[in-house]
Amino acid sequence: MYTQGLDQKESAGKRPVDAVEAAEQLQAFQARIDAEEKIEAKDWMPEAYRRTLIRQISQHAHSEIIGMQPEGNWLTRAPSLKRKAILLAKVQDEAGHGLYLYSAAETLGVSRDQMVADLLSGKAKYSSIFNYPTVSWADIGAIGWLVDGAAIMNQIPLCRCSYGPYARAMVRVCKEESFHQRQGFDIMLELSRGSPRQKAMAQDALNRWWWPSLMMFGPNDSESKHSAQSMAWKIKRFSNDELRQKFVDVTVPQADFLGLRMPDEALRFDADAGHYRFGEIDWQELFDVIAGNGPCNKQRLEKRQQAHDDGAWVREAAQAYANKAAAAAA
Ligand SMILES: [Fe+2]
Ligand SMILES: [Fe+2]
Repeated sequence: MYTQGLDQKESAGKRPVDAVEAAEQLQAFQARIDAEEKIEAKDWMPEAYRRTLIRQISQHAHSEIIGMQPEGNWLTRAPSLKRKAILLAKVQDEAGHGLYLYSAAETLGVSRDQMVADLLSGKAKYSSIFNYPTVSWADIGAIGWLVDGAAIMNQIPLCRCSYGPYARAMVRVCKEESFHQRQGFDIMLELSRGSPRQKAMAQDALNRWWWPSLMMFGPNDSESKHSAQSMAWKIKRFSNDELRQKFVDVTVPQADFLGLRMPDEALRFDADAGHYRFGEIDWQELFDVIAGNGPCNKQRLEKRQQAHDDGAWVREAAQAYANKAAAAAA
């Protein structure tokens, strides 16, 4: 904080000047944001801005890492060598996204160890969508098409986020997400043009992933507690409901192209507004999954803990090498 380091007496004596200076500092910070300047790691920033970014970027990183599990589940069962190579590349991309994002969060003063500990203890959240199971190969198509598709809607505006390291990390992430979306749609296209059984698999996957994908944009604007401040700080550029609507408008015609039906009786095109109107989202389901009661929450964290334990020797070896290199340089 601004007055940190001042003792009680000094702080009390200086308070009127400090308050004015602090307000000016805050105003100058907001003016830089309003002018679309990027805030960099060493720049002054309000503590709440720093905390918001640490929470958001670390949650985003955790989602990329946990998100490898539902798809990793199908790596050994992909239907062809080509599909396996594509899926392997995609899952590896997600690992890379996690690593760029952990690095971006570290520039804000939080350590990687702390973020990992918070994930494993359940203190930190990750996207609820990854707590759903992948029960058929078509789920891999539905995830790429819908989950990566929704991620793109959320993430493209983040390339213009006011915090420089996050914005820059997102440029490459978005390019890779666009490949992920395409490969998922391609799987759905092949299945929906295949045998009746394959088409039924594609429809079943769409039925199960559609509503959770809509929940990925977060609660309705009226319920979203962090939104207004994040918009003012230009961390967020569009509201949850705006992004969700954009996603629906883009995705419904794609389902039509596939010859699949969205699992929503209320879905209809509103010609006057130029938007698809959709049914009520079951928010209770989202809150239950966030609270830890989704179908796979426990399994996902146990598997991550196991992977973390199995990787201990790699961290120890890297540390031993770094110590040796430091000793040689001294
Ligand atoms: Fe990703
Ligand atoms: Fe992705």
